[in-house]
Amino acid sequence: MGNNFEAVRKQAAEKIGLPAEKMPRHIGIIMDGNGRWAKQRDLPRFHGHREGAKKIETICDAAQEIGCECVTLYCFSVQNWRRPEMEIDYLMQLFTRYLVAVRGDLVEKNMKLAHFGRRDGLPDFLLEELDNTLEATKSGTGLTLGLCLNYGGREEILDSVKKLGEKIASGSLTPEEITEQMISENIYTSEYPDPDLIIRTSSEMRISNFLLWQSSYSEYYVTKTLWPDFTREEMFEAVKTLGERERRMGDIKA
Ligand code: IPE
Ligand code: IPE
Ligand code: MG
Repeated sequence: MGNNFEAVRKQAAEKIGLPAEKMPRHIGIIMDGNGRWAKQRDLPRFHGHREGAKKIETICDAAQEIGCECVTLYCFSVQNWRRPEMEIDYLMQLFTRYLVAVRGDLVEKNMKLAHFGRRDGLPDFLLEELDNTLEATKSGTGLTLGLCLNYGGREEILDSVKKLGEKIASGSLTPEEITEQMISENIYTSEYPDPDLIIRTSSEMRISNFLLWQSSYSEYYVTKTLWPDFTREEMFEAVKTLGERERRMGDIKA
């Protein structure tokens, strides 16, 4: 599949039963509940993370099928460094192995990898494989898989504001000239449209510092399903709920 997103969305919309213009171009997912999944089975937490990682392919395939342009996955937040060292070590190894294992498949599917988050703080062995996969997929024109690794929404806005601050310091920008668009152009996801839909698994009704700037008008789908149990059917179910919603964006009902 190439970049004929619109045509694919139109076809998929009929199947799902949605007006084509309500089909999402960008879906963000807070993949929560790996620990609880493991606990339910009396297994150590890392089993949940391992199972969770296996779900990514299913979800990307489903996203491609409906002409979605970008899927952004919350993998590791800046706040997740507070977890026990053993869990962090396991996660960094898991992400690294994932980045190696998935490379060929992403290229084959014409997908592109993107990293959203701070590089600073991530271990070198992970950054090396991240860069290798970014490089291998850089000319992909199909679905973008955005991985939020060492990501924080406030940190992202802060980093964006600092870049504008540098321009002010050098005299190429005045505070009065700052626009919303300039902030949007300096956040990590600047190349992509704002997410239409944000899915959170495992019940929690909170945003946990995910895509704060971009989600000002995103629709939410929160499910009890734990991330390792999430299916393509439920992903389509979540998309389908967009049909029932009226995205007024502050306006009144048409
Ligand atoms: C989400 O699952 C994955 C990461 C934050 C890395 P959790 O590990 O937060 O799972 P729960 O919330 O403890 O069930
Ligand atoms: C959000 O989950 C972060 C990721 C899914 C990577 P958390 O489990 O870290 O969030 P809280 O602690 O429930 O807010
Ligand atoms: Mg959690």
